[in-house]
Amino acid sequence: MQCEPSVDSEKMALATLTVCLLAAIHVVVSVEAPKAGLNDGNMIPTLALGTYSTNESDRANMRQTIIDAIEAGYRHIDTASLYKNEEEIGQGIADVIKKGLVKREDLFITTKLWNDKHAFDQVVPALKESLKRLGLDYVDLYLIHTPGAQKADGTFDNIDYLDTWRGMQEAKKQGLAKSIGVSNFNSAQIQRIIDNSEIVPAVNEIEVHPALTQERLISFCQDKGITVMAYSPFGFMVARDVQDAPPPRIDEPVLVDIGKKYGKSTSQVVLRYLIDRGTIPIPKSTNKSRLQQNIDVFDFKLTPEEIVTISKFNQNRRVLDNSDWKDHPYYPFNMD
Ligand SMILES: NC(=O)c1ccc[n+]([C@@H]2O[C@H](COP(=O)([O-])OP(=O)(O)OC[C@H]3O[C@@H](n4cnc5c(N)ncnc54)[C@H](OP(=O)(O)O)[C@@H]3O)[C@@H](O)[C@H]2O)c1
Repeated sequence: MQCEPSVDSEKMALATLTVCLLAAIHVVVSVEAPKAGLNDGNMIPTLALGTYSTNESDRANMRQTIIDAIEAGYRHIDTASLYKNEEEIGQGIADVIKKGLVKREDLFITTKLWNDKHAFDQVVPALKESLKRLGLDYVDLYLIHTPGAQKADGTFDNIDYLDTWRGMQEAKKQGLAKSIGVSNFNSAQIQRIIDNSEIVPAVNEIEVHPALTQERLISFCQDKGITVMAYSPFGFMVARDVQDAPPPRIDEPVLVDIGKKYGKSTSQVVLRYLIDRGTIPIPKSTNKSRLQQNIDVFDFKLTPEEIVTISKFNQNRRVLDNSDWKDHPYYPFNMD
């Protein structure tokens, strides 16, 4: 008779302990993305944290977001001088290094040259300004943000991106950027760099998601040994300020079904879709649990048939509004 309650309380204690242990495990869960080789011999983590936001509170919390992200296992951070958050990101990086969570060499920091600093002799000074804001001696990857130069007042400038690329090569030679690449370049623009320069870009960072699958540009880059980083990976699954957003949305049944098979959410399925196509997705989140969810995509793999199924959502629809650029001499989006 006396044994009964004590067995129950033992069970209760065990159950409580299990719950506590699971909670503790949840807190320390950290997933690191595997690394891939770039064409210059450097290694790059195959998933990056996106940091662009127009929301003031996101920027204000960026220092803490970087800490949360590093704790969750992120080692690759994507920023740009345009995002005006390099300082907060630098503070977060200093915090995690000081805490002993990582060393500088464990991290891969990408930043970008904005359009108003495209002249050859502006590139290295612009990178030095970014490095000062980030509190770093070098970045792992420096990208030309777009092929189209602008003057400081925002009007178009016709500086040839080949001159800009010479400045990028100089930045690499000086050790200020370990790798150099481009963003928002089409295949003809990349080919022109390859034909006229010493260094082939290591990366092209472009918009890719199920509604904009970019088959031709990705194949072109991969054939040339150029790694593709995929921005706006969730496409129109998340709220965007656009009319008639195309599918898939976050509750898309096709993605829900694929997710059920692997025990994953639709957003994780889409990130895996991008990874399985050989690209490096750059999901942005400032929410701790979504940060963790977005990097927890390295314990499953889609079948070739599932990749084909998801690619059928393609409508060549861009999230990025590029209507202001259409008349620029180096407008990139009129071809792949
Ligand atoms: N090179 C370029 O020209 C260029 C252009 C655009 C973007 N980028 C880079 O790519 C990054 C990502 O692109 P993006 O910011 O446009 O779009 P995104 O990462 O596709 O989407 C971000 C949005 O999705 C939400 N979200 C994140 N994880 C989610 C999840 N698991 N479930 C549901 N919602 C989720 C975020 O909200 P919460 O934060 O609240 O989670 C945010 O509203 C940028 O931050 C930037 O670093 C580069």
